[in-house]
Amino acid sequence: MARIIGAVASTHVPAIGKAIADHKENDPYWKPFFQGFDYVHQWLAREKPDVAVVFSNDHGLNFFLDKLPTFAVGAASEYRSEDEGWGIPVSKSLKGDPDLSWHIINSLVADEFDITMCQEMLVDHAVTIPMTLMWPNQAWPVKVVPVSINTVQHPLPSVARCYKLGQSIGRALDSYKKDLRVLIVGTGGLSHQLDGKRAGFINKEFDTLCLDKIVNDPQTLTGYSIRDIVEEAGAQGVELLNWVAARGALTGKVSEVHRNYHIPISNTAAATLVLDNKPSSRLKAA
Ligand code: DHB
Ligand code: FE
Repeated sequence: MARIIGAVASTHVPAIGKAIADHKENDPYWKPFFQGFDYVHQWLAREKPDVAVVFSNDHGLNFFLDKLPTFAVGAASEYRSEDEGWGIPVSKSLKGDPDLSWHIINSLVADEFDITMCQEMLVDHAVTIPMTLMWPNQAWPVKVVPVSINTVQHPLPSVARCYKLGQSIGRALDSYKKDLRVLIVGTGGLSHQLDGKRAGFINKEFDTLCLDKIVNDPQTLTGYSIRDIVEEAGAQGVELLNWVAARGALTGKVSEVHRNYHIPISNTAAATLVLDNKPSSRLKAA
């Protein structure tokens, strides 16, 4: 049976890719951020995931404003990176796991989620940056299933809907017959706004509240409307939806094992969180 080992959630600021390419990890600006990944590397080396289900948002690479699915799931055997610039070197392709993708897609549709299934999908910085932060040499030991959530063009899915999407994927993973160790990844955020009057807006208090709630009380976050999140976290702070969905996919007993919060990285509050997921006793007994 597949086993969900836990989650890593991370910002996906593109400038991080340029900093890695330029070997700036120890520069004073970058060090407090990159240091936050030392623990992540140890945890991943110990936990040895086989596959990663990555919740993120596409930034106009696969889907533009003319056609933008609320939820899309990749079912490709390979995901090429064709990012839109920001000085990031093009990263290596990621390997997919079509069999697991189709299992998730079938389960989601049976569970009444009307998702878009993508047999071809590219990945942008929302996937490649967190993957490179976790495995800096890009020798990725995992296959991936990308799940794309619209955080770009309104109307966005509600926090509650994203949480339920994650829960549905968590149940799908729990019923997957192959012996895989599954890592859940949530990317983006936390608070940031890239344009308009509030460009540069960051809200540490709200981010801290969100981090605490993601760990221990994710249900409470479903009480926030999208408008509330935009107000509290900024126009792009709605990438929090990816974190909420990722948290929903953790079906067992969840505990925080690592947190780093550093502001700013570029225009963004850069948060890193590692959550451990112990299977519930019902699942252990099964
Ligand atoms: C930045 C943050 C993002 O989430 C993104 O997609 C692009 C840029 C930034 O802070 O620079
Ligand atoms: Fe983003």
